[in-house]
Amino acid sequence: MSPPTTEALARASQALAQGKLVAFPTETVYGLGGDAGNDQAVADIFAAKGRPSFNPLIVHLPDVAAVERYAVMDERAHQMADLYWPGPLTLVLPRRKDAALSLLVSAGLDTVAVRVPRHTTARALLQASGRPIAAPSANRSGHVSPTAPIHVREEFPDGGGGRLALILADGRCPVGVESTVLDLSGEHPVLLRPGSITPEEIEAVLGPVQRAVTPGTGIKAPGMLESHYAPGLPVRLNALNAAKDEALLGFGPDRFVLGGAERLNLSPTGDLNEAAANLFAMLRRLDKPGLSGIAVMTIPDVGLGLAINDRLRRAAAPRP
Ligand code: TXA
Ligand code: MG
Repeated sequence: MSPPTTEALARASQALAQGKLVAFPTETVYGLGGDAGNDQAVADIFAAKGRPSFNPLIVHLPDVAAVERYAVMDERAHQMADLYWPGPLTLVLPRRKDAALSLLVSAGLDTVAVRVPRHTTARALLQASGRPIAAPSANRSGHVSPTAPIHVREEFPDGGGGRLALILADGRCPVGVESTVLDLSGEHPVLLRPGSITPEEIEAVLGPVQRAVTPGTGIKAPGMLESHYAPGLPVRLNALNAAKDEALLGFGPDRFVLGGAERLNLSPTGDLNEAAANLFAMLRRLDKPGLSGIAVMTIPDVGLGLAINDRLRRAAAPRP
């Protein structure tokens, strides 16, 4: 897969300038992007996804200087930015009073979530458009996140009601789970969503971090919505075997795990990075009519495993 041409980037920038939506790759997942300064574009993101308007969006920016036009960065924010931007880290920061951003991106809060992505195509789009880009994952609200262009097409077969102008296709997303969301808007840092930047890595810089991700205790991030990242089939965790009409999603050696009409393995060698990169694509591939569910083997709850298990628990949660 080759990166988009200059012409494709120009078409995408033009679409953004006209208030249309563009799907683009980041290192984590594909985003459904719109001009964060344009109310209509931001409203269209919520409409295309079927996303509740109380759930705010992440604003993608090319560098720290651009972030400081919209958000107030304190010493802690600069320390994290120095280490992890560009990269899969989102910071929730106080929103500047004069921020030229739609109020809808913050869902009316006085904070804004910002991130400087590392993916070359995301960076090229930010440069070419010169706009702050609001972008949630490019899936229908509550569904499995997209890590390849085909997933975006599957999620929006009618182009999100004609709102999605184009998909900047550039292969698979290397990280595969969404960015770590860290709230630095208050006195104490709070981890709102686990990602590939782990609590240990954050605590090495900032000291103790509250882990606010306790499902069902008030919504700050949609991580807090119980059911999310859900395939069509029911998901069963910590499986020691699979029924003959179930799919098995393995991790590490799985030859002693019996059953499974279809079997895939997130990482036969037990590598959490490989497992994260495969997670959403494999959930999609196993989500087939005729099967009764997806049984998932245990994944160690450390490092990147925390983010993988967070997504899997929500995929397995009771559906609304
Ligand atoms: O990796 C990612 O972050 C991807 C790519 C496209 O960048 N984007 C993504 O966006 O995952 P989304 O909308 O699916 O998740 C955004 C998360 C949600 O948990 C949302 O509640 C939280 O960030 N969030 C956004 N703004 C916030 C704010 N002002 N306060 C608290 N949480 C916020
Ligand atoms: Mg999402």
